[in-house]
Amino acid sequence: MKEKSLRFPVKETIKKRTSVRTYKPVSLPGELERKLKNYAEEIKGPFSPQVRFAFIKEDSFLEESGGRISTYGVIRGAKNYMGALVEKGLDKNLEQVGYVLEELILYAAGLDLGTCWLGGTFKIKVLEKDVGMEKGEILPIVTPLGYPAKGKRLIERVMKAAAGSKKRKPWHKLFFNGSLNSPISEKEAGSYLNPLEMVRLAPSASNRQPWRLVQEGTSWHFFMDPSKIVNQTVGYPIQRVDMGIAMCHFELTALEEGLRGEWVTQKGKPALEGVEKLHYIASWLAG
Ligand SMILES: Cc1cc2nc3c(=O)[nH]c(=O)nc-3n(C[C@H](O)[C@H](O)[C@H](O)COP(=O)(O)O)c2cc1C
Repeated sequence: MKEKSLRFPVKETIKKRTSVRTYKPVSLPGELERKLKNYAEEIKGPFSPQVRFAFIKEDSFLEESGGRISTYGVIRGAKNYMGALVEKGLDKNLEQVGYVLEELILYAAGLDLGTCWLGGTFKIKVLEKDVGMEKGEILPIVTPLGYPAKGKRLIERVMKAAAGSKKRKPWHKLFFNGSLNSPISEKEAGSYLNPLEMVRLAPSASNRQPWRLVQEGTSWHFFMDPSKIVNQTVGYPIQRVDMGIAMCHFELTALEEGLRGEWVTQKGKPALEGVEKLHYIASWLAG
């Protein structure tokens, strides 16, 4: 089993993180960038695909390409960006991106840096050159990185309102015991109360929250309830990234709470009532 050491207070940081779309127009100090790069090297995701991070500076990008990094006006002021690259076509490559980038994003939030997952609202073509994208790699996600500006622009308020960003689904829509017909209550969750609550607070594409967790004995099975609209609009199954984010919140919180366990991927979908339309991702085996 992999041992991790925590470098930030997990629950506190998860509660504090929020998507930041307006930044102070200042570059990240070199020391902070180095800290992030060092932390990035240490992150181990639950799956095998290797994720590569690219740190992009808006100024050098401007010099080389003659244009700014385009986020269709969604992001303002950011001078630094970070992209996550992974080999195309590998099993669980997007889940792995979700896990490791979220861990890095939480570490950044612990340093009081703002970020915003961008899966759809950035122009990928121009960035491909700048991140030294290799053949066979994809760049599914980038995030700006910087100091949040005070106040929000209208576009940001509109985006947050459209996605209902502050809202999260209630427990009974996300967490179950043995069957999709049997929601699990906060009381019944026992020592897994906080790992589940931190999954619930996770960010997700269009705030669709596709995570469905079903407890079976000492296992927690992670399923995805896919939304055709979200995945088609973005052009790739972005909700698999959301699943990795949820796994990251779950495992880091379990670690903080002193709960032990490991990730396993069952060969077939666990035969549970009500999961027919869900995609099985992986299971946490407690103990
Ligand atoms: C995988 C992923 C992709 C996202 N893509 C975008 C995007 O392209 N543009 C954007 O403005 N926000 C994007 N978001 C941010 C979500 O809208 C946001 O996380 C969600 O509404 C919850 O709000 P919060 O992050 O402030 O808690 C993305 C989030 C995730 C997890």
